[in-house]
Amino acid sequence: MPIKFDENTRQFHLYNNDFSYIIAVYDNGSIGQLYFGEPLSPDRDHPFLAPLPFAGFSNNIRSAARFEYPCYGQGDFRLPAFKVKLADGAGVVEPRFEDYRVYAGKKALPGLPSTYTESDDEAETLEIILIDKPSHLKIILFYTIFAADACIARSVRFENFGKEKIILESAMSLSLDAPDSAWNTLAFTGSWAREFAVSDAPLHVGFQGVHSSLGVSGSTANPSLVFRRPETTERYGEAFGISLLYSGNFIACAEIDCWDIVRIRVGINPETFSWSLENSGSFDAPEAVLGWSRNGLNGLSRVFHRLFRTRLERGVWRDRERPVLLNNWEGTYFNFNEEKLLAMAKKAADMGVELFALDDGWFGKRDDDATSLGDWFPNTDKLPNGITGLAEKITAMGLKFGLWIEPEMVSEKSRLFEAHPDWAVGVPGRTRTEIRRQFVLDMGRSEVVDYLFETLSALISNAKISYIKWDMNRFITEPFSLALPPDRQGEFFHRYCLGVYSLYSRLTEAFPDILFESCASGGARFDGGILAFAPQGWLSDDTDAVQRLEIQRGASYFYPLNCIGAHISAVPNHQTGRLTSLLFRAAVAFFGDLGFELDPTKLAEEEAETVKECIAFYKERRRLFQQGVFNRLDAPPDCNTAAWMVSTEDKKSAIAAVYKLNAKPNQKPFRIKLAGLDRSKVYRVSLWEPTHRAGAPFDATDKRLNCGLRGGDELLSCGLLIDNTFFAVSITGDFYPELFLIEEAGEAC
Ligand code: DGJ
Repeated sequence: MPIKFDENTRQFHLYNNDFSYIIAVYDNGSIGQLYFGEPLSPDRDHPFLAPLPFAGFSNNIRSAARFEYPCYGQGDFRLPAFKVKLADGAGVVEPRFEDYRVYAGKKALPGLPSTYTESDDEAETLEIILIDKPSHLKIILFYTIFAADACIARSVRFENFGKEKIILESAMSLSLDAPDSAWNTLAFTGSWAREFAVSDAPLHVGFQGVHSSLGVSGSTANPSLVFRRPETTERYGEAFGISLLYSGNFIACAEIDCWDIVRIRVGINPETFSWSLENSGSFDAPEAVLGWSRNGLNGLSRVFHRLFRTRLERGVWRDRERPVLLNNWEGTYFNFNEEKLLAMAKKAADMGVELFALDDGWFGKRDDDATSLGDWFPNTDKLPNGITGLAEKITAMGLKFGLWIEPEMVSEKSRLFEAHPDWAVGVPGRTRTEIRRQFVLDMGRSEVVDYLFETLSALISNAKISYIKWDMNRFITEPFSLALPPDRQGEFFHRYCLGVYSLYSRLTEAFPDILFESCASGGARFDGGILAFAPQGWLSDDTDAVQRLEIQRGASYFYPLNCIGAHISAVPNHQTGRLTSLLFRAAVAFFGDLGFELDPTKLAEEEAETVKECIAFYKERRRLFQQGVFNRLDAPPDCNTAAWMVSTEDKKSAIAAVYKLNAKPNQKPFRIKLAGLDRSKVYRVSLWEPTHRAGAPFDATDKRLNCGLRGGDELLSCGLLIDNTFFAVSITGDFYPELFLIEEAGEAC
C-alpha cells in the first residue's frame, strides 16, 4: 500500500520505491508538510519529523511550521494557498481536518486535463477533507502517488455546502513548503521564436517566480519550475520539479521566509481570477505534478517524460509512431494554389514523407492575415476542388492529409464576425486591441463552442483528414464576456480555458483517429494541459537548427520527445538568415517528431536524395527517437558543442548526437560522457555516414577515436573523445553534426 495513515502520529505517508512524501494533521487540525524526498521506511512511523508541539495560533511556532495548504489571516504570514471572500466580506476561514479517503487508482478532474491510470495498481489516491464550519466551506486535497516513479499529482476541490455565496479569490493547485532554501531554480522563459530559454539562478530571499496573464500559458514562461541543489548536475544530485497541467493564466513562484523555508506555489494566476461558489457549487483547481529525482536533472526529466508520455498523452496516437510530415507554411506562406500544393506533395511523397499538412490560407478569402478567420470553408479561388478534392488527390498519392485551423479566432473581415460581433472578446464601448489583425472568440460561451464543434466536425467529416494543427496566434486583451454578470467577470479567463478544453475533448472524442498538434504562434501553449488533448505540439516558429538546439533542450526538461514537433526548414533560415547543412538540420530535427517546413520542389537533386536518406534513417529508428529515454549530455562550456542522446528502456540501442557549432581552430580535445547505457555490457559504436551529404562535410572525423567495441563503463565514465586539435581533424566548418549509433554487442568480460 503506498499510502499509510498512522493514527498515533496522525501522519500520512505516501511512498514508493523511489520517494516518500509525509503529511501531518497538526494538533489544531491544519495540515502540515513534513517531508518529501528519498524514500523512508514505511514500516516505522516518523514522529521526530513533527514540528515543535503545535500551539494553536502562536505566531512564532506557526510561522516555523510547514503547511500543505496554508490559509490567509491566521498567523502564517507567508502567501496563502487560497483566499476567499465570504458574504460578510471577511476573508478568514479555518479549514480543519475532518476526514480522509484512500483508494486505488485515480479519478479524472471534471472539465480539466489530468494524468490517469489504466489499472488500479498503478497508483493510489489520498483525499484529505477539510471543513470550515462557520462558512460551510469544504476543501478536498487530492494526492495521487504513482507506483512506478517519484511523482505525485495534486489537485484541490472547493465546495460550498452553505446558503451564502463564497467568492474564491485565489486557489493554488499546489503549495509546497520545502525545508530549506539551498536550491537553484530553473525557469523556462522567452518570447515568440525564442521559447524555453533556461534561466538557472539560486533562490534568494523574498519572492520570485513566473506567471502568465496572456490568456494562454504563453511563450514568456512555461508553467513549470525545476529546483536543484547547487551541486546537482544533469547526471547527479537531488532535484524536484513542478508542472501545472493548465493552458491559461498561471503563477509559479517561490518565497523564502525568515525561517529559511521555501514556499512554492503553482496554480491559476490570482491576479486575473475569481470564482463565485453559490450554494452547492464546487470548483476544481487544475492538476499539478510534483516530480523528484536523486539522479540529477536527467533523472527528473525521465520522471516527467514517462508520466506525460504514458499517462497524460492519450488516445490512439499516444503509443503510435508519429508520421513524418511536410507542412507548407514556410514553403509557401499564403501564396499557393491546388497545383502548387500537389506538386509539393508529390515531391514529398517521393522522398518518403507520410503526411501533407496544409497550413494557414486555405479558407474564406484569406490571402494574408487580414481576413477570414472564422470562415472555415475553402477558398475556391485557390482550391477549386475544395478541401475534400485536395485531400482526395493527396491521399491518392499515398500520403495522409492534414489541415491547419485556428478555431478560437475571428477576423473583423469575416462572415462570422458580421453574423456574431458579440462573440468577440472585448469591453463594450472600448477599443478592442487588434493583434495580428484578429480578435478572440469568447470560448467561455457554450454557444461559441457548439458552433465551432459543428462547423469543424462538418469540415473534418467531409474530407479525408488525418491530422489537425490547432493554432492560436494572439494573446487576450480586454478580457470581458457579454455572457457573464458583472460580479462574475473574474471568471472570464478560466472559463475561456475550460471552453478550449471542451472543444478539444469533443473533437478528439468525435475523431479519435485524428492526430492533433497544438500550436500557439509556435510554443505559446506548450504545456501539460494541452498535452492531454494534443499529443504533439509545434514548439517554436524558430526553425533555425542552431536555435532549435536550445529550444528543444529547454523543452526537454519536462516534455517527452514524442510531443515535440521538429521540422527541417530551408536555408537561409527564415528567422535568422543562417546557413546550415541539411544534415545538421536533420540531426537536430530527428530528436522529436520529424517534419519539413519548406518547398520540396525547390530542392536540388542531391538535396532531395539527402532528404530521402534522412527520412529512411529516421523511420528505421523513430520509436527510439520519439519514445526512447532522453538524456542531455554535458560538453565543457567553452567547447562550443552541444550533445544529447536517446536510448531504449532496455539499454540495448542508443543514438548520441554531437553538434559542433562555430568552428575555431586548434581547440582542446575533450570528452562527452554518455548516459542511458549498461555498464556491464559491451557496445558497438559506429557513426552514421550517409551516402548523400548535399554539400556538407560529414566525413566522420571522430570515427577512429570512438568507433568499434566499447565497454558501457567506458562510454558512461570516460565518454566519446571529441578531438578538435588542428592536426587531428579535417576542417569541417561551422555546424557540424555527428550521430553515433550504439548497439549492445554482449557482456563485458
Ligand atoms: C503560427 C504558427 O506557429 C505557424 O507555424 C503557422 O501555422 C502560422 N501561425 C500560420 O498563420
